Amino acid sequence: MISESSIEQLLNIVAIEDVVGDYVNIKRSGSRFKGSCPFHDEKTASFILTPSMGIYKCFGCQKAGNSVGFLMEIEQYSYVEALKALASKYNFELEETFDGTKEEYEAGRLKKQNQQVAMNYALQHFMTNLWDKEEGKAIGQSYFKQRGYSTAIIKKWQLGFASDSWTNLYAAVKKDKYDLETFADVGLLRKKENEEFYDWYRNRVIFPIHSVSGNVIAFAGRILGTKSDKEPKYVNSPETELYHKSNVLFGMYQAKTAIKKAEKVYLVEGYTDVISLAQAGVENVVASSGTALTEGQIRLIKRFTNNITVLYDGDAAGQKASERGIDIILEAGLNVRVVAFPEGEDPDSYCQKLGPEKFAEFLNENEQNFIYFKARSLFEEAVLKDPILKAERIKDILVSVSKIPDGIKRNALMFELSRICEIDEAILTTELNKLTKKSNFDKQKTISEELRLITNQAGVVMPKEPLTDEWQEKALFKLLLEHADKSFVGDTTVFQTVLSEFSNDPELMFTNEVIGLIFHELNEMDVPDWPGQKYYVNHSDSNISQLAIQLLNKNYTLSEHFADNHIYVLDENSNFRHELVSVVLHLRRKKLDNLIRNKISELEKSDVDVEYILEHISYLNEAKLRIANELGGTVYQI
Ligand code: UTP
Ligand code: MN
Repeated sequence: MISESSIEQLLNIVAIEDVVGDYVNIKRSGSRFKGSCPFHDEKTASFILTPSMGIYKCFGCQKAGNSVGFLMEIEQYSYVEALKALASKYNFELEETFDGTKEEYEAGRLKKQNQQVAMNYALQHFMTNLWDKEEGKAIGQSYFKQRGYSTAIIKKWQLGFASDSWTNLYAAVKKDKYDLETFADVGLLRKKENEEFYDWYRNRVIFPIHSVSGNVIAFAGRILGTKSDKEPKYVNSPETELYHKSNVLFGMYQAKTAIKKAEKVYLVEGYTDVISLAQAGVENVVASSGTALTEGQIRLIKRFTNNITVLYDGDAAGQKASERGIDIILEAGLNVRVVAFPEGEDPDSYCQKLGPEKFAEFLNENEQNFIYFKARSLFEEAVLKDPILKAERIKDILVSVSKIPDGIKRNALMFELSRICEIDEAILTTELNKLTKKSNFDKQKTISEELRLITNQAGVVMPKEPLTDEWQEKALFKLLLEHADKSFVGDTTVFQTVLSEFSNDPELMFTNEVIGLIFHELNEMDVPDWPGQKYYVNHSDSNISQLAIQLLNKNYTLSEHFADNHIYVLDENSNFRHELVSVVLHLRRKKLDNLIRNKISELEKSDVDVEYILEHISYLNEAKLRIANELGGTVYQI
């Protein structure tokens, strides 16, 4: 803890123009200073410093604060880090309060300082090995090159090389007369009793691990080539005064600005994943270093963003491990999205395989809300056949949902979940409420009767009758009435797009008879051409003209319930292309429901290949899930 009086003294000597002047080109203007705001793009200088009050204020983006706040904003420092940075700028000694004696405190501080000196020394040593020594050039550099790392990225991440020797670092430390014990404390050197010290990192490439403010606080040394049985793949630093593993994320120092800017962080497993992605331009990425995510690491993420996208390795073990991580992220109130990689690929390998552009595309296209990711397991063949298993899986998803502190988000997800698994929202909510009440819920406990009932004998649940799809159909017609002649993609108009999606499609029976009639008429035309708004308003069939008039007069009414960052609500000002995609997807989902319903009734006939039909249903369900996911929970009504 830094004492209050010491903070006050520090702030008395700090001048806002000195602090901001390190980042912004400022000019004096009367008793104030002016410059362009570093927090938003602007042409006019609306960023004002008032030295008498020690504050900055931007009249463009409304950001304001004192020197500490400025550093917190621009460097993404915590409060304490910002104070420490200011103190070091002014050579001011902050007084820290401490429970033990002053001597103990001093000893601790000194120890930490010495450990930092040792880490900095080793960092330089490993980098010199890599860049200036023959062995490092031949072995270390070629290792990184072969992994596809550019020189710039190797330098930026301060990668290094540990020589194939027992005494390389040791000899250097000894020659330069540094304290050998300190190097042993931080795990760089070791010794057996009564014997000499020796190097702990040997014949390995070195990945330094930085604190959020950029100090090197640990090293990971990777074995060259593939893993051997004798040695671990990575040698890692032990816990020290500098390095508390559970509060550190690899790459956070390099990623923090990008995270803040993108308003999201990608979470991967390995050091090499982080560096490959950063090189490919995905800079908002950190790694949990192979361990399960801790609460400390989540707190760290929360300083920069509330949105976390977990990138899973394409193997089952990776997926299971990270699935467990989801619940603790949800509990912390963060929004969780997921990208699953193809089998056998991890983010590093896949990024190198696809190249930067395709990889960025892959990330964008495959990101899904955790609920869709988890729901995939509902459509596995084994689960479709086994109602008890299905109920268990649903319960598993409900457990995750129950962790979300925000009630509105929970409700929105429950709505989606009920659509995905075709279970009445009320039943799911009853289950959820039980979970939220019982905090130490035990998954092994019996599955409730309700869940048993809704999963019927065949393990297949009949899709609900599409009661609510009528407004989607009307929305489609409204879109035509208002935007039919506009271009949808390239030369293709909205009308052409809609027609090719819905023409001559016997599977797609419109719920609303009038809409069905309208499409029937359109499909009968020899040369499809949009008849125009007037045609429908004056249509000889009064049902059609009534509907057209009604739709043209009606504004969208939105359900406030979904106005939340999980469920994107479209308003009347939003892009009609978006709306069209959403409506089309909803209707496709309905079509799949029809197909599934037909398949299920086939099961009741004798003499059918049950396996084959179940497989088909499973395929259709997956397609439906994909659509649900594409929709991203888009909900709107007219
Ligand atoms: P991986 O085995 O996936 O390693 O472990 P990697 O980083 O992707 O390395 P490459 O691509 O095979 O070269 C993931 C993470 O688990 C931790 C490390 O943090 C690693 O990045 N780990 C793994 C260890 O700490 N020690 C080990 O022996 C193995
Ligand atoms: Mn890897």
